[in-house]
Amino acid sequence: DGQSGSAGPTASFIVVANRLPVDRVELPDGTTDWRTSPGGLVTALEPVMRAKHGAWVGWVGSPDETHDPFVEDGLQLVPVTLSAQEVRDYYEGFSNGTLWPLYHDVVAHPEFHREWWDAYVTVNQRFADRTAEVAEQNAVVWVQDYQLQLVPQMLRTQRPDLRIGFFLHIPFPPMELYQQLPWRNQIIEGLLGADLVGFQLPGGAQNFVRLVRQRLKYETQRDTVRLPDGRKVLARAYPISIDTEGFNKLAARPETAARAAEIRHHLGDPKTVFLGIDRLDYTKGIMQRIRAFGELVRDGLLDPEDCVFVQVATPSRERVDQYRLLRDDIDRLVGRLNGDIGRIGRPPITYLHSSYPREEMAALYLAADVMVVTPLRDGMNLVAKEYIACRQADDGALVLSEFAGAAKELRQAYMVNPYDINGLKDRMMEAMHDSDRAKSRRMRVMRRQVAEHNIDRWAQLFLDDLQATRP
Ligand code: G6P
Repeated sequence: DGQSGSAGPTASFIVVANRLPVDRVELPDGTTDWRTSPGGLVTALEPVMRAKHGAWVGWVGSPDETHDPFVEDGLQLVPVTLSAQEVRDYYEGFSNGTLWPLYHDVVAHPEFHREWWDAYVTVNQRFADRTAEVAEQNAVVWVQDYQLQLVPQMLRTQRPDLRIGFFLHIPFPPMELYQQLPWRNQIIEGLLGADLVGFQLPGGAQNFVRLVRQRLKYETQRDTVRLPDGRKVLARAYPISIDTEGFNKLAARPETAARAAEIRHHLGDPKTVFLGIDRLDYTKGIMQRIRAFGELVRDGLLDPEDCVFVQVATPSRERVDQYRLLRDDIDRLVGRLNGDIGRIGRPPITYLHSSYPREEMAALYLAADVMVVTPLRDGMNLVAKEYIACRQADDGALVLSEFAGAAKELRQAYMVNPYDINGLKDRMMEAMHDSDRAKSRRMRVMRRQVAEHNIDRWAQLFLDDLQATRP
């Protein structure tokens, strides 16, 4: 059952991610308990984890907490401890103050601090050490995302028997931007510890291979890197998706439809509901879309009596400066616009700084006539796919930034360049005014795409390719 006496749990399939897939719940008696979080990744990997005797290595999400490995909902969880200083330097600092903006086309200014880098190395080593302890001989290890890019190489050094995969959930930027990073070579070498490095889009994989060739002078051929010791590393695209069936089912529940109707009623039964749902992040283009909506009302093209914009912004990384500044900017813009264009009892913009369970999200998706997804840069954007999955009547319209990874698959969306506010206004109007027939034609094609390419298939493709990398 994965317990090997006092040595702790072991596993033949291990997911390594910055966060464990659990949320803390406070029980009435004051003690704490854990509940598996309903995220897409855990949904996809649960069956593999159960079938293959799996474990998940990650951080519980708050500083200075040390827990023994525990089993939750049949999943073996192996917590990694981070001190408060490490949370500041490794998580808020290097991961979210350096790598996040750098990898998102420098839409915010990345900061380079040597102490942050040192903490990144230390914490990556801790994740690698913990994983090496848990991994059975010849186990398969799947490392996730930009917080842990050094782990593949660190693991390989200790455990050459392991089969190691890595998936980057965010964009991999062009070489010209990547070069800014003082530790660029170390990170590329870290990733090359894997047998298979996965990206959201072919463009990201190509950026990576080109960087390896030009900076490290390793031999490359299309998606393959050959290292000086003869080992091969594959770099390929695996666009991530959602639990399409799960969202479909949720949207089909009568309670969801009832809640959607109730939401519209609370909004004053408008003719058109525009919706944005994002983590509160400067990559998401939240300011741009609210500004566009405000101008449409001010220009008289939208009547605030029968159009509303609902923006849900989930609190995120609240101790990082750029996130605080953005929150203030949004507060100010929404306040000003509602003050300028609102009437008594009718704020044209309903802004919610809060996170909601999946049921409420599904009801919001059902309540929305036009979903507005306008990131300045986004690895994929699963909100766009969730909206599609919920529109079983083939109605509704998706306005989508061409800079979201999802734009490559959801080609029938109303595509926008979010930097072009006039273009964005035009596309929002077009999405609203298009005929029902035109909308449902677009929606049908996109629904088929999301139904066929769900998260199970994503995980399957990656793990099959990983399995095939070496004899
Ligand atoms: C993005 C990243 C994930 C991250 C998530 C939430 O989707 O790709 O790695 O977990 O944002 O951010 P947080 O910093 O709260 O984990």
